Amino acid sequence: MIFLGSDHAGFELKEFIKNFLEKKGLKYLDVGTNSLKSVDYPDYALKAAKKLMEDSDKSSFGILVCGTGIGMEIAANKVDGIRAALVHDEYTAEVAKRHNNANILTLGGRTTTPTEAERFIDKFMSFEYEGGRHDNRIFKITFIEKSEC
Ligand code: RB5
Repeated sequence: MIFLGSDHAGFELKEFIKNFLEKKGLKYLDVGTNSLKSVDYPDYALKAAKKLMEDSDKSSFGILVCGTGIGMEIAANKVDGIRAALVHDEYTAEVAKRHNNANILTLGGRTTTPTEAERFIDKFMSFEYEGGRHDNRIFKITFIEKSEC
């Protein structure tokens, strides 16, 4: 399952991504927003992140879109277990999976074209997390998450 969310600034790109996923036969769940009316991106980051964390399918992930992808990235990363990555080219989309085991991609509706978004999503989905030396780093991120610091 792919959990999708956006604010008003990411709404149009999110709608495009839905169409793209449908054409590929991929299942998604859209948590909103559903129009261009101004909303607060953390509300949608939280909805999508919670749904993803409740999903036991390890192949599930999220895609969040705001104006730049920055706000969605910051907000989603406050949720335990979320590793949200703002990607802005095919390389960052690839290493977000291979090295960071990102489980949410964030994109900017004002900075990323629909064609770029397709390419970044395809790239992210075509790689696996490498594990190995990256496991210890992910473990340290989880440690920060669980500690009181
Ligand atoms: C909304 O205008 C904009 O601030 C928001 O979509 C996002 O870019 C924040 O990071």
